[in-house]
Amino acid sequence: MLHPKNTEIYFTLNNGNRMPALGLGTANEVEQIPETKQAVKAAIKAGYRLIDTAWAYRCEQHIGEALKELFEEGVIKREDIFITTKVWPTHWDKADESISRSLENLGVDYVDLVLQHWPLCFNRVESADGIDGIDRNPTHEDGSPNINEAGDYLDTFKQLERMYLAKDPRFKAIGVSNYPVEYLQRLLKECKVVPAVNQVELHPFLPQLELVEFCTAHHIVLEAFSPFGATGAPLVKDSAVEAIAQKHAGDTNNVLLSYHIRQGIVVVPRSVNPKNIVSNIEFVPLTKDDIKTLNHIGLADPKRFRDEPFAGSIPGFGEK
Ligand SMILES: NC(=O)c1ccc[n+]([C@@H]2O[C@H](COP(=O)([O-])OP(=O)(O)OC[C@H]3O[C@@H](n4cnc5c(N)ncnc54)[C@H](OP(=O)(O)O)[C@@H]3O)[C@@H](O)[C@H]2O)c1
Repeated sequence: MLHPKNTEIYFTLNNGNRMPALGLGTANEVEQIPETKQAVKAAIKAGYRLIDTAWAYRCEQHIGEALKELFEEGVIKREDIFITTKVWPTHWDKADESISRSLENLGVDYVDLVLQHWPLCFNRVESADGIDGIDRNPTHEDGSPNINEAGDYLDTFKQLERMYLAKDPRFKAIGVSNYPVEYLQRLLKECKVVPAVNQVELHPFLPQLELVEFCTAHHIVLEAFSPFGATGAPLVKDSAVEAIAQKHAGDTNNVLLSYHIRQGIVVVPRSVNPKNIVSNIEFVPLTKDDIKTLNHIGLADPKRFRDEPFAGSIPGFGEK
């Protein structure tokens, strides 16, 4: 039986817009940041139509260069692709400024989705090696995160909501990232706009079934980050994932991606390797039982690969 490629599958957001099921992640390691340009070009040429980025990834300009060339070469038009960017906690009270910076870096007039990157508020600290002169992860002398204690994480989404309701032409949809159920419940009580997307770490080692159920019930599309367990892709070598791959005569990377897409979850694997970028588009027709088996890998003892040192105050983070 012929199956669609992951790049041909789209999901509908709660504002009616369509979002591709597979995207290219771009949170590259510092030394790989310049490779983002060729990675984006390879991905778009392979059929990807979603690029996941953020001000904090320091690669928006490289993406902008790739897009400019792709537009000039006639490979795609702006309206053919879906671009996501994010507002980092150093801009928690300046979402408007963050969006303008990202658009300028990307060289486009609008993005398709803006996410609040983390439900956290950092104090802004200047730094010569920072991004645009701003320290990305400000810390106190003892190494603890420099959190703005008076700040309210929900203010950032409220700013996005105000701009969205005022029909700001710079973006088409708004959402959140790294929001646990408790924070979403508060958001839904205090805001009118339901986030279109919640981007979180999700994979068989961290199945987050309660969050998946909550987001599905509230028409919030989940978007999975670190589908391979981040740098080095440890999950691609996992024996339980391998057993499912063998059953379908497929590859483990594709099992890990289809695990999400089969459940209506967008997934954004990162790669700067053109061979891997192309191989990640193959869909595997996993059954409900396969998904149950995969969920069981991390149910009893879930593992986060991106447990950021600054995220300890968020429920579900820093527990180990
Ligand atoms: N919202 C947030 O807070 C947040 C946090 C983390 C990540 N994200 C987003 O999610 C994206 C993905 O997550 P991630 O960057 O943590 O890592 P990931 O996608 O889980 O894994 C990246 C690693 O997988 C390797 N890889 C890719 N395809 C492969 C394949 N077919 N076979 C073997 N290895 C493969 C890559 O190496 P090669 O380059 O050599 O292929 C890279 O080392 C990020 O780039 C970012 O866009 C968001």
